[in-house]
Amino acid sequence: MLAAVTATRYVLPLREGGSLPGLVEADDLGTYVVKWRAAGQGVPVLAAEVICGELARALALPVPALVTVDVAPELAVGEPDQEVQELLRHSAGTNLGMDYLPGALDFSAHGPDVPAELAGRVLWFDALVGNVDRSWRNPNMLFWHGRLQLIDHGAALTFHHHWPGAPAAVDRVYDASQHALVESHPDVRAADAALGPLVTRPLLERVLALVPDAWLRGPGRTGEDTEAPDVTRERYTAQLLARLAARPAWLPALVQAAADGSRGRAPEPRGQNRPGWLGPPPPPGVRQR
Ligand SMILES: Nc1ncnc2c1ncn2[C@@H]1O[C@H](COP(=O)(O)OP(=O)(O)O)[C@@H](O)[C@H]1O
Ligand SMILES: [Mg+2]
Repeated sequence: MLAAVTATRYVLPLREGGSLPGLVEADDLGTYVVKWRAAGQGVPVLAAEVICGELARALALPVPALVTVDVAPELAVGEPDQEVQELLRHSAGTNLGMDYLPGALDFSAHGPDVPAELAGRVLWFDALVGNVDRSWRNPNMLFWHGRLQLIDHGAALTFHHHWPGAPAAVDRVYDASQHALVESHPDVRAADAALGPLVTRPLLERVLALVPDAWLRGPGRTGEDTEAPDVTRERYTAQLLARLAARPAWLPALVQAAADGSRGRAPEPRGQNRPGWLGPPPPPGVRQR
């Protein structure tokens, strides 16, 4: 099981992303970024956060700790924003929390270099889970104490929004052209050799066991789902094992995209988009936020 905490105070909404996650204090004195069960795309998003987050962690990719956050309906009392009020009220029960990293910097292509080995592993992982949300526009990566951290896996495993379409996703080529790390010379072949053998049925079963029953949705329509949670867990495990076995169908294109990305799109020169009134760019070595 994931560690379970209880929310004690709603601090504020994080409006950078689309899903209006909230910053919350909990009874373990921790602070968490909470994804609400009542948010737009529903509980499968929370399942994707756990499955991808814990799978990434098992592959030694850096992901902040995940917990379940129990939310009482009264948590919303005093929140002035109507939209947030509604969201919290409908999210009473079990929600997903990610350890808040205070002072973390948003990833930017102009930030510290990500080593080719790590970039390759992240790209390979995103292709495996079909993460459509790690683009240079919306990288969903942070730098914390100088180290890259992966966040926000809610837009991966998208097959679970429409299970009848899942077989078609097994060997689908991953579009890496907009990936935030495609210009970091990602070593996809090395990543495949290192990580492929680690993604086993026992590992996936351990990861799926961490997903609360209430977040599992089989092919039945939301709310009418009568499938046993373990049957849905097995769907995910089988889907990910099939995706892994189908690497001959998607890996060559990924290797090619990594090679193209590293060749083609050189980073913009410093200061390229600066408005005139801001003056000349600072000397190299001075970081801008
Ligand atoms: N664990 C964290 N620590 C610090 N900041 C975070 C953390 N998780 C998210 N954030 C900030 O909140 C924003 C929105 O979170 P995210 O998980 O990406 O939600 P969304 O689904 O709305 O995109 C992120 O872009 C980041 O700036
Ligand atoms: Mg995001």
